[in-house]
Amino acid sequence: MARQKAVLLLLVCVRILGSCMGDARLQKTTCRVASGKADCSRMNLDAVPRDLPADITSLDVSHNRLHALQASTLALYSSLSELDASYNSLTTLGQGLCESVPLIRRLDVQRNQVHLLSDNDLKSCSHLTRLDLSDNRLKLRGEPFSVLNNLVWLDVSRNKLTSARLGSRPQLPRLATLVLAGNDIATLRADDFSFLNESSVLVLGLSALPLKEPQCLRTNDCFKPVAGLRDLMLDGSNLNPQVLSSLCWELSETAVRNLSLRNTQTLTLSNTTFQGLGKTNLTVLDLSNNQLSDIPKGTFQWFPLLENLSLEHNNLKHLTNGTFLGLRSLKQLNLRKALTKSHMSAYSVIDDFSFQPLVKLEYLCLEQTVFRNITENVFAGLPNLRRLDLGWSSTGLRTVSNATFAALAGSPLLQRLNLTGMAIRKLGPGAFYSLGNLTTLVLSHNFISQRLTGEEFRGLGSATELHLSFNQQNISLTPTSFVHVPTLRTLMLARALTGTLDLEPSPFQPLVNLSVLDLSNNNIANINSGLLDGLHQLSVLKMQHNNLARVWKNANPGGPVLFLRDARNLSVLELDYNGLDEVPLVAFRGLWRLRVLSLGGNLLNFLRDSIFDDLVSLRYLWLQKNMLTSVRRETFGVPLAGLAELRMEHNPFDCTCDSVLWFAEWLNATNASVPGRATGYVCNTPPAYFNRSMLDFQPDSCKDLRAFQALFALSQSLVLGLMFLAFLMHFQGWRVRFYWNIVTNRVVGMRDGGYNDLARDRYEYDAYVVHAEEDKRWVERSLLPLEDEQFCFFLEDRDAVAGCSALANIVDNMRRSRKILFVVTEALLKDPWCRRFKAQHALHQLMDESRDALVLVFLQDVPDHRLSQALLLRRAMLKRRCLVHWPLQRERVGAFRQELQLALASSNRVR
Ligand SMILES: *[C@@H]1O[C@H](CO)[C@@H](O)[C@H](O)[C@H]1NC(C)=O
Ligand SMILES: *[C@@H]1O[C@H](CO)[C@@H](O)[C@H](O)[C@H]1NC(C)=O
Ligand SMILES: *[C@@H]1O[C@H](CO)[C@@H](O)[C@H](O)[C@H]1NC(C)=O
Ligand SMILES: *[C@@H]1O[C@H](CO)[C@@H](O)[C@H](O)[C@H]1NC(C)=O
Ligand SMILES: *[C@@H]1O[C@H](CO)[C@@H](O)[C@H](O)[C@H]1NC(C)=O
Ligand SMILES: *[C@@H]1O[C@H](CO)[C@@H](O)[C@H](O)[C@H]1NC(C)=O
Ligand SMILES: *[C@@H]1O[C@H](CO)[C@@H](O)[C@H](O)[C@H]1NC(C)=O
Ligand SMILES: *[C@@H]1O[C@H](CO)[C@@H](O)[C@H](O)[C@H]1NC(C)=O
Repeated sequence: MARQKAVLLLLVCVRILGSCMGDARLQKTTCRVASGKADCSRMNLDAVPRDLPADITSLDVSHNRLHALQASTLALYSSLSELDASYNSLTTLGQGLCESVPLIRRLDVQRNQVHLLSDNDLKSCSHLTRLDLSDNRLKLRGEPFSVLNNLVWLDVSRNKLTSARLGSRPQLPRLATLVLAGNDIATLRADDFSFLNESSVLVLGLSALPLKEPQCLRTNDCFKPVAGLRDLMLDGSNLNPQVLSSLCWELSETAVRNLSLRNTQTLTLSNTTFQGLGKTNLTVLDLSNNQLSDIPKGTFQWFPLLENLSLEHNNLKHLTNGTFLGLRSLKQLNLRKALTKSHMSAYSVIDDFSFQPLVKLEYLCLEQTVFRNITENVFAGLPNLRRLDLGWSSTGLRTVSNATFAALAGSPLLQRLNLTGMAIRKLGPGAFYSLGNLTTLVLSHNFISQRLTGEEFRGLGSATELHLSFNQQNISLTPTSFVHVPTLRTLMLARALTGTLDLEPSPFQPLVNLSVLDLSNNNIANINSGLLDGLHQLSVLKMQHNNLARVWKNANPGGPVLFLRDARNLSVLELDYNGLDEVPLVAFRGLWRLRVLSLGGNLLNFLRDSIFDDLVSLRYLWLQKNMLTSVRRETFGVPLAGLAELRMEHNPFDCTCDSVLWFAEWLNATNASVPGRATGYVCNTPPAYFNRSMLDFQPDSCKDLRAFQALFALSQSLVLGLMFLAFLMHFQGWRVRFYWNIVTNRVVGMRDGGYNDLARDRYEYDAYVVHAEEDKRWVERSLLPLEDEQFCFFLEDRDAVAGCSALANIVDNMRRSRKILFVVTEALLKDPWCRRFKAQHALHQLMDESRDALVLVFLQDVPDHRLSQALLLRRAMLKRRCLVHWPLQRERVGAFRQELQLALASSNRVR
């Protein structure tokens, strides 16, 4: 117990402390002066400041501690026409107030302690047009208001006045509004309003008075001086039926048009209550908040001219065909919350034909009403009905069948039918078939769960708006869902759909006039690129909170789904929270008119250059809460040029010169609205800027980098070029060499050719071929064909002179050959004969004659060290053109031949 108290005490302390601090925060220390108005409210003043500009016309000193308005101080501000001194501690208006401020027109002393008000107080206030004296303790001495010849508006509410009589002789000739609410006036006497004899009051506020029977009973004297009265407020008065009936009789000679009887708590009506008003032209009657439970038949029969009746928030149990009898001119009937069900009582009932007397009714509001059911003829006989609202009413309606609203066939002008939140589960075929002029049908917030075949909307030939949002995501569409409503301009399907939208043709195809389409919150994952085909008028498309990430991926089978391809008039596109991590390069192509693009809450990290380049009309771009690291001119230059608002906060920006330099400068300089500019744009990398605002980014640090960047670009392209060359040589080198050889051969070959011819004379063979026994087949197949063309080879097996020693043979024939050609394979390297002698001799000859006479044909890749071991040769010792590789690929054999021919034909001189 003690602990609880302590906690309570603590809470109270904190509360007091908090409110004090709050006040301190609110309190200004100097008056705000702007365009002739001085605001000195809530400054804890105990006197009107003397240091304000002399020419101010309006002074607000409300909510201070003033005890008096010193005439001498006010005299400093002689141009003052408005003075607000409400919420102070004034006990008197102070003599000579209006002498010091002769131009004053509006004076507000609401909520003070003004007690005695005498003739002198308002002397010279004849310019006053508006005087608020409400919430004081007024006691009138003499005729204080008699000088106010220009007063139009007077409020003396809640002053504990016991009589409405504010003067004994006629005065206030211009008064139009008099508010007497909340006083202790219990009776109205015959001459109470006689002081208004010469005025023409239009509005009389008599709310919250403890009225008893008027004393001027049935003499019609009470309101005679205010016979021109138009509006009478009697709200919150505790009226018993007798008093109300008498008051109505008192009003019978007035011009009253608008009678407000709200909040009278215990009102009971009978068929004669309003009889007295029968002679008036009453047009507006407000009976809301009265706990009315019964309206006897004929209650409103006295109001043939009534146009607007409100019965909002009552407890009605039963509406019959007699309830509204006589309301021949009624245009609006407000029954919002007028019928209810408590757990004690049975359901309220609206009988068939209840509204039949209302032949002029245009608007019937039955929002949040509870009644048993919509029977077949409830809405019968409303030939002028234009709008019917049943939103959030409870009627037990489950299935809208073709009978439910059949009676509305008698309301050919009906344009709007609002069936929001009525727990409807199903729409039957032809549910609205008789509503041919309906333009707006609202079915949001129901439990409709079905496949829409299109039959549901048959007959709605003029519908332009169809709301189906928030239907628990249980509606599935078919290609024919909307074939009977081709005039639709607005179709709302937020959180309504289930199943796939990947339909052929698209359900929206018939809607050629569609301008607004809401498909948000549907978890849609499957669509095809024809979804919006033909919707050339579409201007607003909402698809946020779906699952469209896959359809825009490049890796999507068949490529990204470009469903916006035909929606060229889009002005608003919302795609937030779709898990998008990719945007196809051409996704926004041609959207010249797009003004709003919203992509917040996705996973976008990299946007390709120029994807936004067609969005020249963009005014609002929302990309907050994505994974963007860089904002570069190449991507954002166009959309950011004419922007009114950018939202890109909460992205993990990489604050480097490369990524955000351009953006940081834009952000610093732009006039566009950027919510959270100072706190929302936080750097994630590099570590130097981690968790700091992008506005701290130093653009100067990038200046040096620009020269460096040029250098970098240069060297980078160099490196890339070399790499490219290297790769080219590696993979396509043979081809390059092949062409090079052909070219050089064409040009240089002539000379070499001459030399060749010369050399022919000296040599008998073009080449002495050394090969291993195992490679004989290759030699025959691949080398010998060259002989036919132009060369003549020496082959040991074929050309050696029999009988001569092998040694002599070799030596002689090598001399007689211009080149020595080794067919290099592992087999050759292992052949001792070859190794020991032939190679050595060949080398010898090479040195001896300074000839460049060796040609190696590699059939296998042989490491250099093996080559030097076996043949005492290194690749480096020979010219490159003398090393020829037998290719593995067939298509390269031609090139090989060419190379070999060149090698054999080349000169032997060492250059
Ligand atoms: C009611 O309206 C009619 C015609 O508009 C007018 O002649 C008549 O004087 C009005 N009655 C009252 C009481 O204002
Ligand atoms: C009022 O209702 C009573 C019955 O409830 C009926 O006798 C009387 O004629 C009605 N008065 C008028 C003016 O309709
Ligand atoms: C009102 O309904 C009652 C039956 O409930 C019927 O007798 C009466 O004729 C109806 N009155 C009118 C004006 O339709
Ligand atoms: C309305 O409710 C009543 C009583 O429950 C029932 O007899 C009647 O058939 C219902 N009418 C419709 C149209 O549901
Ligand atoms: C339908 O009625 C509901 C409440 O009853 C309201 O909130 C909603 O705005 C209305 N819809 C239209 C389109 O008028
Ligand atoms: C209403 O639907 C029923 C069957 O559901 C059908 O027999 C009847 O003809 C329909 N009425 C109209 C007017 O279409
Ligand atoms: C639509 O309203 C016009 C009058 O504006 C009327 O002539 C026509 O019959 C109505 N159509 C339907 C189907 O109610
Ligand atoms: C922001 O703008 C101001 C003046 O317009 C300039 O002095 C400042 O250096 C700018 N800061 C950045 C980060 O561009």
